[in-house]
Amino acid sequence: MSSSIVEARASEDFTAAVITVSDSCARGERQDVSGPSVADILKKHGFHVITRQVVSDDQIKIQNLLIRLATEVRFIATTGGTGIAARDVTPEATRAICDRVIEGLAERIRGEGTKKTRFAALSRGVCGTRGQSLILNLPGNPRGAVESLEAVIDLIPHALNLLQGNTAHT
Ligand code: MTE
Repeated sequence: MSSSIVEARASEDFTAAVITVSDSCARGERQDVSGPSVADILKKHGFHVITRQVVSDDQIKIQNLLIRLATEVRFIATTGGTGIAARDVTPEATRAICDRVIEGLAERIRGEGTKKTRFAALSRGVCGTRGQSLILNLPGNPRGAVESLEAVIDLIPHALNLLQGNTAHT
């Protein structure tokens, strides 16, 4: 059996949630395109997406949602609020409730992103762990969210296995 098949099967065991962070989507003024696109990619890779949520760019609201969802799913992808505008606070909220930050995943997202658009450098998205759950910030632009998730999706199952204590080297 090839290692890619083993990895694809591993992700089927993992629950996931997608959070769209956007004032305009939360007010119902704009349709959420990024959240459904991110959820579709996760499902395509075998994740069990149990919920999609929309929240305004409010740090406390984002933190409370992340704290609750981290008790319910193993992987949380957020989209939006990673830039440098005054209300972009998703990275701050994520950092505040994470036990540890995994710099390498965010580095990879920005590294791959800048091959497509130099504006990828403007995303401050972070990735971190809370308990046995992994939280990943993606940019809000639908194409940016998809490209960013695709840049690291192959690493997520192994990261989740490590978090739940499956640390044996194969
Ligand atoms: N990354 C990729 N791959 N593609 C993109 O189009 N948009 C960038 C960046 N990352 C983009 C991207 C832009 S223009 C911004 S401002 C930042 O993500 C932050 O976006 P956000 O505040 O919507 O999260």
